[in-house]
Amino acid sequence: MRAIVVKSWLKGPDDLEVKDVPMPAPKDDELLVRVDSVGANFFDILTIQGKYQIKPPFPFIPGAEFSGTVVRAAVGDGRLKPGDRVFGSTDSGAYAEYTSVPPQQCLPIPSTLSFEQAAGLYITYPTSYAALVLRAALRSGEWVLVHAAAGGVGVAALQIAKALGAKVIAAVGSDDKFGICSAQGADHCVNYRDSAWTSKVLSLTGGRGVDIVIDPVGLVEKSLTCAAWNARIVVVGFAAGTIEKIAANRILLKNVAVTGVHWGAYAKNEPERVPEVWAALFKMAERGQIAPVVYDPVFSGLDRAKDALRAIASRATHGKVVVKPAETQPKL
Ligand SMILES: NC(=O)c1ccc[n+]([C@@H]2O[C@H](COP(=O)([O-])OP(=O)(O)OC[C@H]3O[C@@H](n4cnc5c(N)ncnc54)[C@H](OP(=O)(O)O)[C@@H]3O)[C@@H](O)[C@H]2O)c1
Repeated sequence: MRAIVVKSWLKGPDDLEVKDVPMPAPKDDELLVRVDSVGANFFDILTIQGKYQIKPPFPFIPGAEFSGTVVRAAVGDGRLKPGDRVFGSTDSGAYAEYTSVPPQQCLPIPSTLSFEQAAGLYITYPTSYAALVLRAALRSGEWVLVHAAAGGVGVAALQIAKALGAKVIAAVGSDDKFGICSAQGADHCVNYRDSAWTSKVLSLTGGRGVDIVIDPVGLVEKSLTCAAWNARIVVVGFAAGTIEKIAANRILLKNVAVTGVHWGAYAKNEPERVPEVWAALFKMAERGQIAPVVYDPVFSGLDRAKDALRAIASRATHGKVVVKPAETQPKL
């Protein structure tokens, strides 16, 4: 099969190479999946550079999020069988025509979603749901401010917050992204490169501020300016590249709760929450309330993975960037 293979730390996506490699050899308790689509992530860039917290041994195939079709079932798993459409996260590398993965890291694709949409579902949607529901205890009618609202986590948070009855303000880094946010349900949009953005949020909320802030960027300090009494600010990530230090008195003054979310750690620390979150998300998908937004163009062929990752690094993308490893269906 064909796969991207990393043999030493790379300078960046331009150095990615596609090779012919042996088919994966799944263990008995793993699935063999033909990869249809890969959800590209910023952390893929960090991984190939050796800058991510997880450093796989060489040689490795990068990529985590994928969707595809089960080719071989796992022994002892009565849930997923050959032919099933699945999505998930693999440690064996998603930028490949086939991957092996434990069935616990795969779910069936809801019938309402395409392979391309499902490729970016596994991480962003439960993260945003956990942030809004488990951490911020969102109530219908509350004001929610979503940062990087046109990104993977952001679009998911917009759709979920709207489905739960919130009034949503989308915050993005360029006015070009207002259209995509409005199309995904945002009631208002602001640009956080505009120095007056917090005043705009205050004015949009009639001066009271927002009840919840979903922050995948690193904008907690500034968001405190437009937070309401009893607001909850959820730290999701640091896309801007800096980990903030917050003056604690500013948290006290408005009775604010600053909290974090680490979705990947739920499986270890609160495993009972994982099926609960997926059940809620599947219901929303069935009702048509959530549907991942796929960035256009979809990058077809593993040789285009470098273009996909370059596009993410340039900050010009929205929704989920997807790579399709095989331009035609590979033979087993
Ligand atoms: N805690 C968790 O469990 C969890 C789970 C998933 C992801 N995350 C984290 O959440 C963050 C967002 O993930 P995502 O999948 O939504 O990423 P994404 O789709 O790549 O979106 C990231 C967005 O961040 C914004 N941004 C602001 N400042 C930036 C800068 N200096 N450089 C690059 N982008 C910047 C950009 O939008 P604008 O141009 O509009 O500013 C960009 O599109 C990442 O840091 C990720 O690691 C955390």
